[in-house]
Amino acid sequence: MISGQAAFDGIIADIREFSQSAENLISLQEFCVAIIAERLPYYNWVGFYMLDPDDERTLVLGPFRGARTDHVRIPVSEGICGVAVARGETIIVPDVSSDSRYLACSLETKSEIVVPIRVLGKIIGEIDIDSHTLDAFDGEDKAFLEKCADIVQDFLSPSHV
Ligand code: SME
Repeated sequence: MISGQAAFDGIIADIREFSQSAENLISLQEFCVAIIAERLPYYNWVGFYMLDPDDERTLVLGPFRGARTDHVRIPVSEGICGVAVARGETIIVPDVSSDSRYLACSLETKSEIVVPIRVLGKIIGEIDIDSHTLDAFDGEDKAFLEKCADIVQDFLSPSHV
């Protein structure tokens, strides 16, 4: 396992600060993927998938850092990304080669974590991370990414001012 609580705390503080004055969701997401990919070397692909407002059975690729992916639109019935929506919880896959649900983005990817984002209790998208390291993600990564998702959620919530 790889961990770095100080790095996590610093990223959360910077994302929270940026979110206070972010112009829109895309700029907040761009900031998140840039800072996360830059500061956490084992986060080799960092991106958002958001449910298509016109077709809530499909996830659409948003801002990301890392290799280009063919998976620009993912049916919620497919992939680890789909499982996270279906289950409504964070999914950690320590070894993607042994999980038949996995949709390959890069041949280098060894492990993955997907964290749902909710607004008013409803899933609207997710943060997806791939690592070239086997078993890269643990409970600290989960807690960190769920805090990132909470900041995006707060930014989008109707009470946000
Ligand atoms: N691996 C994901 C697909 C997205 S790419 O990793 C960027 C999945 O299994 O849903």
